[in-house]
Amino acid sequence: MRSVYIETYGCQMNVADSELVASILRQAGYRIIPTPEEAEVILLNTCAVREHAEERVIGRASQLSGLRAHTPKLTLGILGCMAQHLAETLPQRAPFVDLVMGPDSYRRLPQLLAETAEETLLDLRLDREEDYQGIDPIRRQGVNAWVTIMRGCDRFCTFCIVPFVRGRERSVPAGEILRQVRVLTAEGYREVTLLGQTVNSYRDGQVDFAGLLRAVGQVDGLKRLRFTSPHPADFTPQLIDALAEIPQVCPGLHLPLQSGSDAQLERMRRGYTAAQYRALVAELRQRLPGLALTTDIIAGFCGESEEDFQQTLDLVGEIRFDSAFMFKYSPREGTFAHKKLEDDVPEATKTQRLERVIALQEGISWEINQQLVGQTVEVLVEGPSKRQNGQTRTFYGRSPQGKTVVFSQEVVANALVQVHIERASSHTLFGELAEP
Ligand code: 5AD
Ligand code: SF4
Repeated sequence: MRSVYIETYGCQMNVADSELVASILRQAGYRIIPTPEEAEVILLNTCAVREHAEERVIGRASQLSGLRAHTPKLTLGILGCMAQHLAETLPQRAPFVDLVMGPDSYRRLPQLLAETAEETLLDLRLDREEDYQGIDPIRRQGVNAWVTIMRGCDRFCTFCIVPFVRGRERSVPAGEILRQVRVLTAEGYREVTLLGQTVNSYRDGQVDFAGLLRAVGQVDGLKRLRFTSPHPADFTPQLIDALAEIPQVCPGLHLPLQSGSDAQLERMRRGYTAAQYRALVAELRQRLPGLALTTDIIAGFCGESEEDFQQTLDLVGEIRFDSAFMFKYSPREGTFAHKKLEDDVPEATKTQRLERVIALQEGISWEINQQLVGQTVEVLVEGPSKRQNGQTRTFYGRSPQGKTVVFSQEVVANALVQVHIERASSHTLFGELAEP
């Protein structure tokens, strides 16, 4: 049996895709191993959303190719978004790579691995249909399972490479999703996160996202239902009703904002204004008590003036997200912004704006978490937390809002416990088990 080691970069979609690749290879007779040293096949599942990730992956691939001294027949492959993005130039930039494969080609992976070739093998066909039905991903043993319900994206935000590397939007039929969720709950998973690039634009011809959530909510044994990432312009009244009515839906949403300036949102082709976003948040908060909101912000996109950026700060200050992922804009080849808009915000200004929005958000995250001190929250236990040197052993899990909660009592993974919060940082809540 050949052994394969898979390393994953980027978003949860990629984590889920690596689990899919593991399943495809296991069916083809491979053994999945957790470290690269003894592997005969090494696969890097990569991300292309922002620039620096790519340099890092090439560096890592070069380093791993050094293992050929030990395993002369080592096959080294690059999968995923960056493979798709850099297809043509990758064999020259990284000649030590044997295989380059985009995200719609994984069913052919065993076939390509069986071929031996002098040149790098490429498989970059994007497939409008491929949704990997019938393959049950090999999931890390755990508490939360990712279930990919749609692939690709049709929105074409002007800064974003995703529609180019992941292709057109397609939804997995609801019956297949329900089959997977039933298998998962039977295996003991209590939490499921439905995944898609714009997960709430899901539609399989019969069921929309609201209908799918209601059906998944009926599956026996499911305690918590999450999904990511919804697009702000794809919320329907039916969806908001479903979120409010399905008991397992968790009160935590990731709702990418990107900018607080209407001019910038227009340049980004996001499909909403600041006022529409604000109104959506107000409605969600009214219907979903205790809702935690997280977001994505881009600083220094093409044309962003100081005033535009100030509007982002104002909106971030007004909405008060629980936390945010914040990035400097980096142009991605092939996108509308790269071709037609000038990357005119100086690097130093981008850096400075990013620092300003991070500082604002960190303060808000800290303040919101302090309000939870003294409260008792329900925690789904994931396991022992990473220990720093000399620290006593602690355990962690997540609150319904999706916040990490650390406590010192040993509790088995998958248990639901009540934790009394005693202190909080911007990113973590600390407490002790409440007396039952
Ligand atoms: N530059 C910077 N950030 C980007 N994102 C997507 N494309 C770019 C880019 N070219 C960010 C967006 C998106 C998140 C996943 O990554 O904020 O929501
Ligand atoms: Fe990219 Fe926009 Fe699609 Fe999100 S919705 S994946 S930002 S194009």
